[in-house]
Amino acid sequence: MSNPALLIDQFGRAISYLRLSVTDRCDLRCTYCMAERMQFLPRADLLTLEEIARIGRQLVGRGVRKIRISGGEPLVRKDIMHLFDELGALLCNGLDELTLTSNGTLLTTYAAPLYAAGVRRINISLDALDADKFKQITRRGDLDKVLAGIDAAQDAGLKIKINTVALKHQNADEIPDMIAWAHGRGFDMTLIEVMPMGDAGEDRIDQYVPLPMIRDQLETQWTLEDAADTRANLGPARFVRIRETGGKLGFITPLTNNFCAGCNRVRITCTGRLYMCLGQEDHVDLRGLVRANGADETALNAAFDQALATKPERHDFAIKDRGQAPTLTRHMSVTGG
Ligand code: GTP
Ligand code: 5AD
Ligand code: SF4
Repeated sequence: MSNPALLIDQFGRAISYLRLSVTDRCDLRCTYCMAERMQFLPRADLLTLEEIARIGRQLVGRGVRKIRISGGEPLVRKDIMHLFDELGALLCNGLDELTLTSNGTLLTTYAAPLYAAGVRRINISLDALDADKFKQITRRGDLDKVLAGIDAAQDAGLKIKINTVALKHQNADEIPDMIAWAHGRGFDMTLIEVMPMGDAGEDRIDQYVPLPMIRDQLETQWTLEDAADTRANLGPARFVRIRETGGKLGFITPLTNNFCAGCNRVRITCTGRLYMCLGQEDHVDLRGLVRANGADETALNAAFDQALATKPERHDFAIKDRGQAPTLTRHMSVTGG
């Protein structure tokens, strides 16, 4: 690499984690994530898998040690295993971890190839364990298909973390049952506060539950002990261990407890925009550069440095009033979380 300098921002935060969104499309339409009738991006706007791999490789040369593939649903992208195979080849060569966040619907097909490509852990989004409720939240999903995907991932040897977005009217009451189920199966679990990104067809105030409230409820039935493993507390989640279940539970609290001081990540959208923060608009366009300059490493490195200089201190997500416009107009599915 022509410029091997590590990516350290103006607040002294070292960037070691890259999130790559490979598509804004999804086979589900979760009520907190998307509108029922989503207008997806034209395919020509997306980076090709080769372009994504090339940018990923160069960022590994700049100190990225972990890559998470996200979306939309990453596994709906055609030929997606090609990207996993390409990036998996970096695993003995600078990259410590290659992973993904998935809704689980296609894992019966992909779990074994993902393991073969070097993936060892996977985060699976699951917001209900009741089939009707699951259909309601996803507006179309088949719970059995996801549960079969989870079984396939476990059989393939993938370590699983379950992501659950806490939703006031849709799943808040069932969260203890979901935790008991996940921990019973040996999965870690993370609860997430809904973030006001894009129009999802419902007022965010009707979805949002502050996680400290859920935590208080959990403490009436379980003993929550701070997780001793400090590595587990890098990134947005704060983990506890539940003494009675023996499992780990994370809280991602963008609204109630800001975690940006420890931010170690950047993200690239499926259209090639490098966002330094999930919750801000500043970005640098890499697609134009990759297409105009072909394999010019120097230009890409300069773009990374330019973006780094503008990494904001924190996001400004807020859900306060009924009828409030979302903090950001873009959906999570474009940026990939
Ligand atoms: P680990 O690698 O297991 O720590 O994954 P993760 O929790 O970083 O990633 P995952 O894709 O499972 O995301 C869980 C939730 O955290 C999603 O709702 C993401 O949108 C959210 N999230 C991830 N990174 C950030 C971030 O930098 N800022 C904010 N506000 N939310 C984030
Ligand atoms: N707020 C919080 N989490 C969200 N996710 C998708 N949209 C939102 C939102 N608006 C979650 C998904 C998945 C992860 C990538 O982000 O459930 O687990
Ligand atoms: Fe699809 Fe995930 Fe968004 Fe649900 S949260 S619609 S599964 S991208």
